[in-house]
Amino acid sequence: MVHRRTQVAIIGAGPAGLLLGALLARHGIDAVIVEQRSAEYVLSRIRAGVLEQTTVDLLREAGVADRCLKEGLTHEGIELSFDGALHRIDFRALTDKHVTVYGQTEVTHDLMQSRASSNLMTDYEAESVEVSGFDCERPAVRYLKGGVSHELACDFIAGCDGYHGICRASVPTDAISTYEKVYPFGWLGVLADVPPVRHELIYANHDRGFALCSQRSRTRSRYYVQCSLDDQADQWSDEAFWDELRRRLPAEIAEAVTTGPSIEKSIAPLRSFVAEPMRFGRLFLAGDAAHIVPPTGAKGLNLAATDVGYLARGLAEHYLERSSSGLDHYSTRCLSRVWKAERFSWWFTSLMHRFPDAGAFGSRLQQAELAYLVGSRSASSALAENYVGLPL
Ligand code: FAD
Ligand code: PHB
Repeated sequence: MVHRRTQVAIIGAGPAGLLLGALLARHGIDAVIVEQRSAEYVLSRIRAGVLEQTTVDLLREAGVADRCLKEGLTHEGIELSFDGALHRIDFRALTDKHVTVYGQTEVTHDLMQSRASSNLMTDYEAESVEVSGFDCERPAVRYLKGGVSHELACDFIAGCDGYHGICRASVPTDAISTYEKVYPFGWLGVLADVPPVRHELIYANHDRGFALCSQRSRTRSRYYVQCSLDDQADQWSDEAFWDELRRRLPAEIAEAVTTGPSIEKSIAPLRSFVAEPMRFGRLFLAGDAAHIVPPTGAKGLNLAATDVGYLARGLAEHYLERSSSGLDHYSTRCLSRVWKAERFSWWFTSLMHRFPDAGAFGSRLQQAELAYLVGSRSASSALAENYVGLPL
């Protein structure tokens, strides 16, 4: 058995866990990350692409924003496509803010590099991870690695282990409430080394279903189409994907799409989920471990970042100022943001997708709401404000 001790044990080396580790290191707080997968596997998951200014600010605070600031693309608006035409929502004019297009893979890569170069410890490929003692003064994490048992004693546990992780599952069921909505469709995503069709993202409402034209750089595109939950990614040929995407876009945009071989193709189910509270004694849940939003609002990674922003501040207050105030307010502060993001993501998802039982009345209502949205400054402002996000 290997025994170790740290101040904060972080479960999960996704963006939440890695960013928390980097922020704590800045405050001189010791943390160990325990991750069940390999670093390569974590980096191979293609997910988010849009960072709010608050997220970029947190990366800067953590000392890992250099590449994001240099290579990230500043986007001052998005385009909505419906009824065969494009309508721009101008973030700069409506909110004086912008978002940054920079892939989650790149954020994770930068955080991993910074952690490795500072010799901060991450234990990858940890098996049978268990958390205990968070309801008393002796929290601990136990796991197996290469057949050897490890025990990590700590002051606090940060559950950054995603929706399927063990931290939330370790909380007694009578101490936690969960709220969930599962959508009757998924997103089929393709990553390809082709230039993006437009400078900005296009969110398309179409009779055949939703489509999204996103990007990672000037030479790498990320596209999505709404698909059935019964679909399998490998049953979609590249050609079938490009054809379906183009059918859902206005003609002049469809013609401008540059196609090419996919370098990744996957299906993501869509879900809204919240667990309350987010603190259980000395265990704090953060990111997807506590909440999931459908990706339409581009909020998941951003919420993970703001959760750990609050948590790092609370822990710094605890260790450096001997105040419990930040930790005591952690759950309510996070949940207030989370429910705003849940509402926005649910609303934008409902507006842009085809729902099997909505019928013709449902799609005419969507068109009426979209027309109202682009025709009303206050409605466009509400969309823009929610999309660009709130300060911490
Ligand atoms: P995760 O990234 O899930 O990381 C959790 C980590 O914990 C994983 O590495 C996992 O292996 C590890 N783990 C799990 N169980 C254990 C265990 N028992 N022991 C140890 N480790 C464990 N968000 C946005 O903000 N903008 C977007 O544009 C956006 N687009 C998206 C597009 C798609 C298709 C999808 C699927 C998601 C998108 N998101 C977006 C959401 C975003 O990717 C997630 O919200 C984000 O990954 C959450 O980070 P996390 O660190 O909380 O969780
Ligand atoms: C992405 O680029 O993966 C992306 C962008 C915007 C979203 C969701 C995903 O709303």
